[in-house]
Amino acid sequence: MDLFSPVALGELQLANRVVMAPLTRLRCGGEGVPGDLVVEHYRQRAGLGMIITEGAWPSPQSRGYVGQPGIVTDEQVAGWRRVADAVHERGGLVVMQLMHAGRVTHPEINGGRRVEAPSPIAIEGVARTPGGKLPYPVPAELTTDDVRGIVQDVVLAARRAIEAGLDGVELHGANGYLLHEFLSPAANERTDEYGGTPANRARLVVEVVTAVAEAVGAGRVGLRISPEHNIQGAFETDGADLLLTYGSLLDQLRPLGLAYLSVLHQEPGGELVQELRRRFGGPLIANSGFGTVTTREEAVQLIDAAHAEAVAVGRAVIANPDLVERWAGEHPENEPQPHLFYSNGAEGYTDYPVLEQAG
Ligand SMILES: Cc1cc2nc3c(=O)[nH]c(=O)nc-3n(C[C@H](O)[C@H](O)[C@H](O)COP(=O)(O)O)c2cc1C
Repeated sequence: MDLFSPVALGELQLANRVVMAPLTRLRCGGEGVPGDLVVEHYRQRAGLGMIITEGAWPSPQSRGYVGQPGIVTDEQVAGWRRVADAVHERGGLVVMQLMHAGRVTHPEINGGRRVEAPSPIAIEGVARTPGGKLPYPVPAELTTDDVRGIVQDVVLAARRAIEAGLDGVELHGANGYLLHEFLSPAANERTDEYGGTPANRARLVVEVVTAVAEAVGAGRVGLRISPEHNIQGAFETDGADLLLTYGSLLDQLRPLGLAYLSVLHQEPGGELVQELRRRFGGPLIANSGFGTVTTREEAVQLIDAAHAEAVAVGRAVIANPDLVERWAGEHPENEPQPHLFYSNGAEGYTDYPVLEQAG
């Protein structure tokens, strides 16, 4: 298969297999509303096969970063509608990543609300709050009823994303945020039906994905996972337990007929990811993680070898709004500027040149 050929991920019809990975950029201000700059950023990248937005918070307490967008208030929905319209005008597709940060936040970030997680275990490190860096707090252990409430929050957020005109939603089950915290024995020490065994640790993700699929249609719902990713205290070190947990999850998701499974793992073509792909039984979007920047060569190889249906590309898309054109023609690329990933304003965000402007 060819990286530049079309592909269907459920109901999503992509013109090519280069997908914009979800990329948090923190330019949505104190109210979490995408404005002109954010609209322009996504509009510029509409030539990707599909855009997956930065993680958006489904409830105020689930906000992980200052400047992160939400999908809760009417103003946020209106902002996202402008993003969707701008991408659609250029013939693109845009799916929203829904992200509950779990314990990776601080009351100084989420408006003084409590920090929620499966178990009262703080992560190491510091949160960047408006008042400076502060140690992550010990989170409150969610009650069983609280957990059910989160399912409802995420369903509402998914409905709002669709109401805003987005083409679909992706549940963020990766990188040490809430859903990954439930999956990982390092973060989940619960004794109710949401912890204790691999199937119990998978339960919340199964419930959230199933409920969202019922609400907006499975063919436009994806899930992102990052098994074995050593990040934010959610490291899964027991291979047998991992396979049982993610296997249970994917066996239960398989009958839903979701649009796609997106996996962040350093070896997308390796045994683990390919086993999870078989268990899921639907389209796979691959990404080899933060270690090395995804290159054209890697993306071409993943599709040529049939290791995935599409490839999620992060930093190269930040730096090259016209990445598909550049990769298709083997043109030179702009270099990403990591010190501007989480800064403010247009610099390092909407000012990367496209081909005809370059040199
Ligand atoms: C600035 C930045 C922000 C990111 N934000 C998110 C995010 O909101 N959600 C997510 O699932 N992954 C996020 N990631 C991970 C990327 O989606 C991707 O997996 C990672 O950058 C590795 O791919 P690459 O080598 O193509 O950049 C982020 C990565 C970067 C560099």
